[in-house]
Amino acid sequence: MKLERVVTCTAPVNIAVIKYWGKRNEPLILPTNSSLSGTLNQKDLKTITTAAGFKNENNTTGEVELILYLNGKLDANSQENQRLKNVLREMTKAASSQQSQFNTIIVVSENNFPTAAGLASSASGYCCLVYTLAKLYQLDWSNEQLSIIARQGSGSACRSMFGNWCKWEMGQLEDGSDSKAVPCVSGKSDAFAQEMEILICVVSDQKKHTASTDGMRNSIKTSSLMKERIEKVVPERMIQMEEAIANADYQTFSELCMKDSNDFHAVCRDTTPPIHYLNETSFAIMDLVDFYNKVLCKGQNGVAYTYDAGPNAVLYIHGKEHKQKFAKLLQQVFEISGNTTLEPIDLNEEWKIKATELKEKKHNQLKNWIETTLGAGPQIVSTDLSDQTNHLIHLQTFVPK
Ligand code: DP6
Repeated sequence: MKLERVVTCTAPVNIAVIKYWGKRNEPLILPTNSSLSGTLNQKDLKTITTAAGFKNENNTTGEVELILYLNGKLDANSQENQRLKNVLREMTKAASSQQSQFNTIIVVSENNFPTAAGLASSASGYCCLVYTLAKLYQLDWSNEQLSIIARQGSGSACRSMFGNWCKWEMGQLEDGSDSKAVPCVSGKSDAFAQEMEILICVVSDQKKHTASTDGMRNSIKTSSLMKERIEKVVPERMIQMEEAIANADYQTFSELCMKDSNDFHAVCRDTTPPIHYLNETSFAIMDLVDFYNKVLCKGQNGVAYTYDAGPNAVLYIHGKEHKQKFAKLLQQVFEISGNTTLEPIDLNEEWKIKATELKEKKHNQLKNWIETTLGAGPQIVSTDLSDQTNHLIHLQTFVPK
């Protein structure tokens, strides 16, 4: 087996501020609405993937053999995973004009964030796989084109192809060739991304109890709110959200972000059987955000929450000062140590009453929080065949590190 080429890349996690919920075509993963997300900074959360291409004289099948290691384990089920097969088929098709010299590829992929972060890893994982294979094959494709393939692994994965703010345009075509990610870069959007601070409040590290695909399917079948969401609510909100980001208008951004999260969870509860992703701790965090904005900031929002298919809150916070203050409040209510460098802040009587109320109300504990910012899209780490440090496999023995 002769190693011909090796590439290591990283890809980010993204968190939607206008949610994707619903598929109009399940096998192709075509959504019922467009969506928009922020891309989290890879210094804190990322997937890293190495792809090594070999000329292997033992493989006489005429097909490319793929050996996949996910988070330290050989993924023996990869042959049964239809989404993975779809992605690999599309990548092989894309590379067919390249006269590829490989017939065996070893892929090693790892997340640098703990599963205890309670974050879905499929978005960064599929994005990183597609991006890394594209670089292995030296494909001359844009990230927009690659997002169409990543989408077929997991819908939200397409939005990890770009940094800062990214829109997944739902598209209209039946073959999905116009359902792709595009970066949101107009006006002051980049400056607005730099102002943003993110706190991921980890309420639970358990797997979600209703898988997104099943939940989406049931919402389409049974929820009347879903119809309204697809036809009216999201199309209008997408325009408003893009405008708010381009204008760096945090007040409008935060209102829309929280409204869309609430709307998505209302659709979930309106589904038969109802889907409950949020718990008492999630509600206590919402209550705290509401109190912070309305009472402590006198109606000038400084914090916005959003919740995906689980109880963990992701907070989009307007600047460092608000982040410091809000983290301090979280620390007081949930009695966790968190970041010990937080400065004490003066709190009034009203806050003491609220804190007591929330302390009594909370049923579960907040486990921890992760602080991050927004950041860049996928990155190439190394394509160097003599690089002993950055690749996830040993280049002499071809085993994962
Ligand atoms: C609630 O992308 O995980 O996080 O396409 O079935 O893999 P599949 O679903 P997935 O769904 C994410 C749903 C969400 C909202 C969002 O990220 O937009």
